[in-house]
Amino acid sequence: MGTFSHLGYDSDAAAVNLHIVDLYVDVKARKQGAGKALMSKVASIAREVGAREMIWSVYHANKIATKFYENLGAQRISDVFFMKLRADAL
Ligand SMILES: CC(C)(COP(=O)(O)OP(=O)(O)OC[C@H]1O[C@@H](n2cnc3c(N)ncnc32)[C@H](O)[C@@H]1OP(=O)(O)O)[C@@H](O)C(=O)NCCC(=O)NCCS
Repeated sequence: MGTFSHLGYDSDAAAVNLHIVDLYVDVKARKQGAGKALMSKVASIAREVGAREMIWSVYHANKIATKFYENLGAQRISDVFFMKLRADAL
């Protein structure tokens, strides 16, 4: 159970954001408030370090996580997309 996060600087918005790379709660511990508690802790760290927002990605197919995040009040971003490049491409 845990979360992995790091700070990033958004040069378009001129703001520090906290990027959540992963959030995971053990199957047996789900629906007992652990995920929300982890997100609250990350939010408090974000405030401490002066980050404006927390940002992360969710697979379209992950309906449970989508519901969970929307329940927290999170909004979908529509003006940004992911890109990837094979490590051996350059
Ligand atoms: C998504 C995940 C982190 C949620 O963790 P959790 O500990 O079960 O969530 P919580 O118990 O803190 O739930 C918080 C709220 O979300 C809601 N929620 C959680 N799971 C839900 C589900 N399966 N369906 C509907 N609502 C759900 C809860 O009802 C609760 O609402 P409330 O505050 O109104 O009571 C957990 O399901 C998980 O680890 N999933 C696998 C990994 C994953 O998909 N991570 C996200 C990657 S983007």
